[in-house]
Amino acid sequence: MKPTKNSTLEVVSPKVQVNDDFIETDYEYQTSHVKRTASGQLQVHPQTTALKIRTARHVPKLGVMLVGWGGNNGSTLTAALEANRRQLKWRKRTGIQQANWFGSITQASTVFIGSDEVGGDVYVPMKELLPMVEPDNIVVDGWDISRLHLGDAMRRAEVLDVALQDQIYEQLSQLRPRPSIYDPDFIAANQSERADNVIRGTRQEQYEQIRRDIRDFKQRSGVESVIVLWTANTERFSEVQEGLNTTSKELLASLAANNSEVSPSTIFAMASIAEGCTYINGSPQNTFVPGLIQLAEEKKVFIAGDDFKSGQTKIKSVLVDFLVGAGIKPVSIASYNHLGNNDGKNLSAPQQFRSKEISKSNVVDDMVASNKILYGEDEHPDHVVVIKYVPYVGDSKRAMDEYTSEIMMGGHNTLVIHNTCEDSLLATPLILDLVILGELSARIQLRSAENESAPWITFKPVLSLLSYLCKAPLVPQGSQVVNSLFRQRAAIENILRGCIGLPPISHMTLEQRFD
Ligand code: NAI
Repeated sequence: MKPTKNSTLEVVSPKVQVNDDFIETDYEYQTSHVKRTASGQLQVHPQTTALKIRTARHVPKLGVMLVGWGGNNGSTLTAALEANRRQLKWRKRTGIQQANWFGSITQASTVFIGSDEVGGDVYVPMKELLPMVEPDNIVVDGWDISRLHLGDAMRRAEVLDVALQDQIYEQLSQLRPRPSIYDPDFIAANQSERADNVIRGTRQEQYEQIRRDIRDFKQRSGVESVIVLWTANTERFSEVQEGLNTTSKELLASLAANNSEVSPSTIFAMASIAEGCTYINGSPQNTFVPGLIQLAEEKKVFIAGDDFKSGQTKIKSVLVDFLVGAGIKPVSIASYNHLGNNDGKNLSAPQQFRSKEISKSNVVDDMVASNKILYGEDEHPDHVVVIKYVPYVGDSKRAMDEYTSEIMMGGHNTLVIHNTCEDSLLATPLILDLVILGELSARIQLRSAENESAPWITFKPVLSLLSYLCKAPLVPQGSQVVNSLFRQRAAIENILRGCIGLPPISHMTLEQRFD
């Protein structure tokens, strides 16, 4: 069985079948269930569940609607899609550069498949494991409160080399963002001069307009499936209150009543859910108030977020994992950022900074909680996050982190990291992965193999599989938040492997270690 038409991989197993519609596997899912006895003992019960997993083979023509299309990320994604589609090359001071998708796990990372006859590791591109949307076929549309066309938006962003910009300016200048919902109470006051492309009316009317926009895009472009993704400015947190937004009913009533605490991003998410479109939140604000999550659950539509995990936090979720896993105790983490793009300008306002601070501050919790030898019950490392707006550095964000850890016998180890992020070039490939993996998730189903009449089930509406790409992962109620980057990546790899009948990667390599 070849998972995709162009895959170099062929799975030879009686447990994998392919028909016109699905790749279907018989899969033994192994877990360890832990019980705590009255005396405090941990009893672990290995369990094996026989499952059938199937993946629909038809890859729909995908449309992506970006909220904040004219921003740094939105314009860079649009430019990168065009540049890669046309396989453009341009001259830099250092030589010829070719368009690529470095930084995207689906497009530029590989997955360990197994060992060959001489014990060598064999890898294939992640995108060859299952049929996935090709970036070249994605159609982009979206909204922005600023009316600049995408050619000028790309110039304003000052992210890409000019020699590349010049090759795509004309195509991009044909694209103009749809008017959007502007509420100065939610983004920083310093954004007001951008707001020349706005939908007037009540919140209910704005919601209806967004729904019409999604339908209009679908109809005009001929895409089969649409994902809406927020890459607009960070909003302040909204209040969560009984009577306002704690149930779907309350939220719909608050929208109808034009309640000022219903944020633009929540209106976008509501409209997206109503149109059956997956909604992804790339910013830190609490778009997903409890009533919104309930709405997604009722309508069985995927939501995922929050906040792209691109630079400093990605390093943090690797480094703290390494330190705690090595039995070393991080006791203080001090993180400074300065940046000069429009995101930085927006974050220079206290309420919007607060959203980011919250999103950045919980990222080590699961790793700290995993090790009771190092940390007492409520003990946490000191963790401080500072963000400053320094216009001159533009999109070239600087992140400086100091990690102090306790080592043996009261000694200390201090690591200092300076990270020049080139913010939008790190974030844009994440947007691509979010929509590609988000779309793929909609085609994966499983059921018990023991009961032929058991219904096929899908991922829960809160799509935690995308946690790898998110700073503050949203997970279904009752699930554990996982921030550790390697655990998050292993979840993606092993689920994709499971879909084609391959066991999880164990790295045991017994055949190489024993005689
Ligand atoms: P940006 O400021 O360049 O772009 C945001 C765009 O959103 C602007 O064009 C603005 O006019 C527009 N906008 C604001 N409110 C809007 C609304 N209600 N509806 C439609 N458009 C609206 O920012 P950038 O750098 O593209 O970042 C976008 C978001 O992604 C920010 O919230 C940022 O915090 C988040 N993010 C970015 C990361 C990165 O670039 N590495 C990492 C993590 C999160």
